[in-house]
Amino acid sequence: MARVAVVTGGTRGIGEAISVGLKKAGYTVAANYAGNEERAKAFTERTGIKAYKWDVADFDACAAGVKQIESELGPVEIIVNNAGITRDGTMKKMTRSAWDDVMHTNLGGCYNMCKAAWDGMNERKFGRIVNIGSINGQAGQYGQVNYAAAKSGIHGFTKALAQEGARANITVNAIAPGYIDTDMVAAVPADVLAKIVARIPVGRLGKADEIARGVLFLVADDAGFITGSTMSINGGQHMY
Ligand code: CAA
Repeated sequence: MARVAVVTGGTRGIGEAISVGLKKAGYTVAANYAGNEERAKAFTERTGIKAYKWDVADFDACAAGVKQIESELGPVEIIVNNAGITRDGTMKKMTRSAWDDVMHTNLGGCYNMCKAAWDGMNERKFGRIVNIGSINGQAGQYGQVNYAAAKSGIHGFTKALAQEGARANITVNAIAPGYIDTDMVAAVPADVLAKIVARIPVGRLGKADEIARGVLFLVADDAGFITGSTMSINGGQHMY
């Protein structure tokens, strides 16, 4: 039977490309989304992938969502924690809620989703978790204290959970995308974005499919020795 994969924030942007890439590779995919009903409906019509609405920042909603998917599609064996938001602003202007929202969604969401599927993965002795971090979690970014902290947290979370899952054949890896051509990046002021693109050696924004490529590599059955790693996909913008 095809393995079941859940992609959070899976109906738009990078998440959409990941959902579609996984489906094309033969996985059974459930795409989670939080808000944009219209886009989710269009996504399902276009791709045939069922979309499930809940907020990844909500612990109980994640547990219920995973339970529902398991009863409809089968055990969740792959999780791609992709859901993320930005609330950019310098420290001077950053409100407490801009901090909390980003931490709860981007980092709290990873905990909530992994917690919901963890016992099942351990019992079945198989799991593939891919957390979508960011170049800005690796290198920092002016105006993103909240986002950089949450994404950096994802990289630490990944390395810690990888150690806990290793004996049960559960791999936990991160991908650190650079600037990808999505709605999120389009929201960056044009003059600021132009300066960022000028610093990308490849000379352009990345494509969402180029992140999906990395996810497919990491979730494969024969990727069992790759765990706790961070794959940078950023056009050469940041190397270490
Ligand atoms: N370095 C130094 N100074 C900078 C700067 C930088 N990188 N960016 C802006 N500044 C300066 C501005 O020139 C301005 O200086 P003056 O006051 O002397 O004119 C000052 O900082 C403050 O500017 P603002 O008043 O406009 O500050 P703000 O609080 O409104 O914030 C901003 C502006 C949100 C930081 C805006 O510049 C911005 O959106 N920057 C881009 C942030 C970014 O890259 N976000 C990534 C989103 S995509 C994503 O996150 C996906 C991913 O994983 C890669």
